[in-house]
Amino acid sequence: MPLAPLTTLLADARAGGYAVGYFEAWDSYSLEAVVEAAEAESAPVILGFGCLLVDRAWLDGGGIEALSRLGRPVAEQAQVPTCLLLNEANTLEQARRGLDAGFTALMLHTGRQSPTDAVEQVGALVRAAHERGVAVEGELGSLPAATGSEIDDAHAALTDPGEAAAFVAATGVDSLAVSFGNVHVLEGRSAPVDLDRLAEIHRLVDVPLVVHGGTSFPPEAVAGAIARGVAKFNVGTVLKRTFLEGLAEAVGTRVDDPGPHELLGSHSSHDLLDAGKRRLVPVVRNLIRLYGGSGRAA
Ligand code: 13P
Repeated sequence: MPLAPLTTLLADARAGGYAVGYFEAWDSYSLEAVVEAAEAESAPVILGFGCLLVDRAWLDGGGIEALSRLGRPVAEQAQVPTCLLLNEANTLEQARRGLDAGFTALMLHTGRQSPTDAVEQVGALVRAAHERGVAVEGELGSLPAATGSEIDDAHAALTDPGEAAAFVAATGVDSLAVSFGNVHVLEGRSAPVDLDRLAEIHRLVDVPLVVHGGTSFPPEAVAGAIARGVAKFNVGTVLKRTFLEGLAEAVGTRVDDPGPHELLGSHSSHDLLDAGKRRLVPVVRNLIRLYGGSGRAA
């Protein structure tokens, strides 16, 4: 089916009182797992790849184009509404290359930039992207990062509601990622979030809001976040952790050796990477249900 504009996916989510999951893939197996989960749930889904934790030289040396060539056909064949997002481009140049390469939604990571630079760069990206019908997600505020269950908030900044409204007006972004306690790549515990701050942002900002750090977002706060304007959850770390567990178990429990061709890339029952994919599908399905997306594709 043709790709849907991100703006439509998020507007439908807001109108329907649910959120769309962006489940960040890194290869064809993870991407196919997300599609399989979304189709099984009959749910809209946001497909795509992230830049923040990927080698910059690889991305700049053709990686962005390779990811688009991998992602576009998979997204276009999906039987549920979807789009293809290049998430957290490290530079404006990377985001522009994502636009040229065929991504249908873009996000430039500006969490560490000065407000003036962020407005200038994101505004330029919005102008270029909107000319081609491509949506741009902005961010205001900066999430704490984590190593395992240790939070590092040295560069963290909560989103100021008034500044968020000014940023959206100045840049023209279609959606806004916000920081209200949510933490990036935190494992083993959930991050306490401030729904009052989110409510105040929602009061002043009219575009759909986005939560990064889906892995550690408290499940009991999901409905409250959706009621306060969140239409998209980004999930990454738990997906790779789950895939790794499936892969490690498959490696550890092998007693026979059907040979390297069967074990890697065969897509048969012997494929170790396929074991990672199979472990991932139910985890994505559960998150889609948590966000209220099941059955919304019809
Ligand atoms: P987690 O890895 O914490 O789920 O966050 C992913 C994310 O926000 C990608 O943009």
